[in-house]
Amino acid sequence: MSEKKNLFKERSFCISSDFSLDELNYLFDKGKAFKEAWFSNSPKRQNLLSEFRINNPHLGDYLDPDFGIYDAFFENSTRTDHSSKNAALFHHINHLSFDPSKSSISKSESYADTFMTLAGYNNRIFIIRTKLEGVCKWLEIKGEEFYSQGKLEFKPAFINAGDGKHEHPTQELLDDFTFLEDNNWDRSNIHIALIGDLLHGRTVHSKVEGLKIFNNVEVDLIAPDIIQMPEHYLFKMKKNGFKIRIFESLDEYYAQKHIAQKQYFTRPQLERMGDEIIKIQNTLRDKIIFKKEFLNKLPENTYFYHPFPRHREHPTIPEFLDTMPLNHYSKQSSNGKIMRIILLSAISGKIGWDFEGETVPVPHYSDSFIKDINPDNQKSKVYKEGINPLENGVVIDHINSGEKDPYPIWNYLIKVMDRMDFTKYKGSIHVGESKKNPGSFKGIIFLPKAKTLSDSELKKLSAITGGCTVNQIKDNKIERKSKLSIPPRTYGIKGIGCKNINCISHESHIQNVPSEFITEPNGKMTCIYCDTPHISNEIWRK
Ligand code: NCD
Repeated sequence: MSEKKNLFKERSFCISSDFSLDELNYLFDKGKAFKEAWFSNSPKRQNLLSEFRINNPHLGDYLDPDFGIYDAFFENSTRTDHSSKNAALFHHINHLSFDPSKSSISKSESYADTFMTLAGYNNRIFIIRTKLEGVCKWLEIKGEEFYSQGKLEFKPAFINAGDGKHEHPTQELLDDFTFLEDNNWDRSNIHIALIGDLLHGRTVHSKVEGLKIFNNVEVDLIAPDIIQMPEHYLFKMKKNGFKIRIFESLDEYYAQKHIAQKQYFTRPQLERMGDEIIKIQNTLRDKIIFKKEFLNKLPENTYFYHPFPRHREHPTIPEFLDTMPLNHYSKQSSNGKIMRIILLSAISGKIGWDFEGETVPVPHYSDSFIKDINPDNQKSKVYKEGINPLENGVVIDHINSGEKDPYPIWNYLIKVMDRMDFTKYKGSIHVGESKKNPGSFKGIIFLPKAKTLSDSELKKLSAITGGCTVNQIKDNKIERKSKLSIPPRTYGIKGIGCKNINCISHESHIQNVPSEFITEPNGKMTCIYCDTPHISNEIWRK
């Protein structure tokens, strides 16, 4: 009989979608049971809580009581930091805090070296907040590598406690838990307004996948244009089937009738804003601050939420609201400790054994992006270099086919030559016009005498200019003809990099993180660390 596996054990939580909907719902159900036990007067209260406590010698523990949890906050925090510390204390295990200013990080040590060292001291779970984006993802990869090579006794798990403007998955856990509580655990619908700095606010970015626990999702995005939700998150929300409406200000929102009963306020993230936005902060604020005169516009049973902190001088939800029934942000904040207790319980392997749903599927990346076409089935085509037929070499055809302007194709062809290191060969570039569709252009690269292209060169060429056709010619015959499309996964290629300066993989941080991109159905290449989308031309450093 195969031993039952705990799917939560040793899992990292870097973004909301690292857990499946079934797994998230399991955590919410456990959170509900825990909260009931926490507030119960029953004499069995301690027994009930013990079901969740990592170190519980009374339950015939299978866990190592010496295992440790570390938190490391490279960016300031009150709620996430202290609810995590309180959650760790609940578990009666070793808990330590890392002080970046006193560590070798200040001697230019990398994140990977630092955290693999701490993992070697029997610390199994790390709760990390950074300014840089994608740090936990990178550490998860590194931790798996070290563990599989026997350099670590245990596989460490990394919990993202907020990374730059990217994601804040544990906040999403407690937010969704609070919404569910307020919905009487009904998962059929949610209508929510997200208000404030939707551009830099990582808590609202995590809602793009997190809110999928509800069957029907309506989201009203209320923010001045300059700090509206980024395009790629909008795209994902629509793909997830969310109904989206966009408003420029609260004035505009409350002037119409379909007002959400759940309203989630955020603060302008001044520390992440550029000078341009800072200059107009007062005008922006005015559009997202709740004012007394809006009170009579709110439907019955409207609840306000806020991840906090709020600015003590210019809060988006002013203090006069605190004593009103619409204040659900106080409860939301307390739920932070509960859901972080549950998360640690699951990742340690204390709970999770009774989970029966679906987990996150292992991604499969097809390698059919290089399709060989039998040259015999093709109309025999003779490529010419100037007036002479090409006897030997390589011809790359259909580059940027369909472009309406020849000029960008010329520039692009030079880039392709450079990126592929083709400039070492003699040859020529050509921009041609389609006979069938006049006004539609394409680029061609001729490389007479170039040696045949290896599969790894074809793979690189696919990532540079997917859509082209490669003809490898020998003795006047096309010996191999291949149609290339953009690879589903682009990695292991020199010269590629994420354009997001705040990404851990960005070359300026010298963390030696290998770049990797996943191609989305819309053709955008998304960085696996920070989720920034790129068009294929943007992933190249030159
Ligand atoms: C949020 C954060 O850090 O992203 N706060 C939190 O974790 N409770 C929101 C914010 O800082 O505005």
